[in-house]
Amino acid sequence: MYKIAVVPGDGTGPEVVREGLKVLKAVAEVTGFKFETVNYDFGGDRYLKTGETLPDSAIAEFKEMDAIYLGAVGHPGVEPGILEKGLLLKIRFALDQYINLRPVKLYPGVWTPLRDKGPEDINFVVVRENTEGLYTGVGGITKKGTPDEVAIQGMVNTRKGVERCIRYAFQYTKEQKRKKLTLCDKANVLTYAHDLWRRAFEEVGKEYPDIEKDYAFVDAVCMWMVKNPEWFEVIVTCNMFGDIITDLGAMIQGGMGIAAGGNINPEGTSMFEPIGGSAPKYTGKNVINPLAAISAVQMMLEYLGETKSALLIEEAVIKTCGKMKSLSAGKMGYTTTEVGTWWQVLLKKNK
Ligand code: IPM
Ligand code: MN
Repeated sequence: MYKIAVVPGDGTGPEVVREGLKVLKAVAEVTGFKFETVNYDFGGDRYLKTGETLPDSAIAEFKEMDAIYLGAVGHPGVEPGILEKGLLLKIRFALDQYINLRPVKLYPGVWTPLRDKGPEDINFVVVRENTEGLYTGVGGITKKGTPDEVAIQGMVNTRKGVERCIRYAFQYTKEQKRKKLTLCDKANVLTYAHDLWRRAFEEVGKEYPDIEKDYAFVDAVCMWMVKNPEWFEVIVTCNMFGDIITDLGAMIQGGMGIAAGGNINPEGTSMFEPIGGSAPKYTGKNVINPLAAISAVQMMLEYLGETKSALLIEEAVIKTCGKMKSLSAGKMGYTTTEVGTWWQVLLKKNK
């Protein structure tokens, strides 16, 4: 019996999570695993009412769960940074979810802005470091509001944090039977931080002699993701670069409507989410694409070892994509709830 914490969150989060949970329920009936969910109403509305983003008691509860399923974080009525740091990053950090795993896979029949590229060209995974880098909040502002103002945002790279991320990436590359791991950095400028990354990469790489070690600067990675995405199999990178290149990745795989990710602590509780954000302008309109949230369920089940269920979901995602006019909100040719309902049928047929 899996215990899953559900945090629908802000904006369209609750709408897509609702559909994701329908799929979870349907696939559980097909393959026979059991789960229960515990719902948490954290997000912008609760913050505006109570001033609370995420109490420590919730973190303690999350630690006892098998997984967390998150919708979206971000509320137009809340100043930027409060929910991001107080809720999303707080979960990632407090549960030490040190990997952010983001597949970039173009499914057949899905439109990509890259002309002349197809599913055989766009199929790689980004392993993003998820607890350090520019995200820790180390730094400060002095002389604020004066002409002499100074703002420093520290980039934290610990040997332990970098090494465990790189080791995860190598191990993942091996387990997925991929041949090449690309380290995406800016070692030509960040000669301290990314020197550490390069050395850790080379040292850990010795444990994986069969995996080709590839190096690319982040600016070049952006160029090649557009020009030659087929060059990439697995990319490992720091927190900030991973954030940026996975939005680009989402676009070449068809859009935010399909992009999902896992915040992973291999020894603890992991969290799965569509990466698209809360999309305030589509909230409540029943037009948002729930496929990313459904793919997040697939990743969660893969992680929990429910391989057959995960495969069934992916097969159904592929069929669903092929039928949609577009993956973008409002342009699918279906409503959000239609997609979720149709899914239950698909899964049962696939059984
Ligand atoms: C993401 C998001 C978050 C990030 C924001 C909301 C803090 O953009 O998951 O990619 O930067 O990690
Ligand atoms: Mn992002």
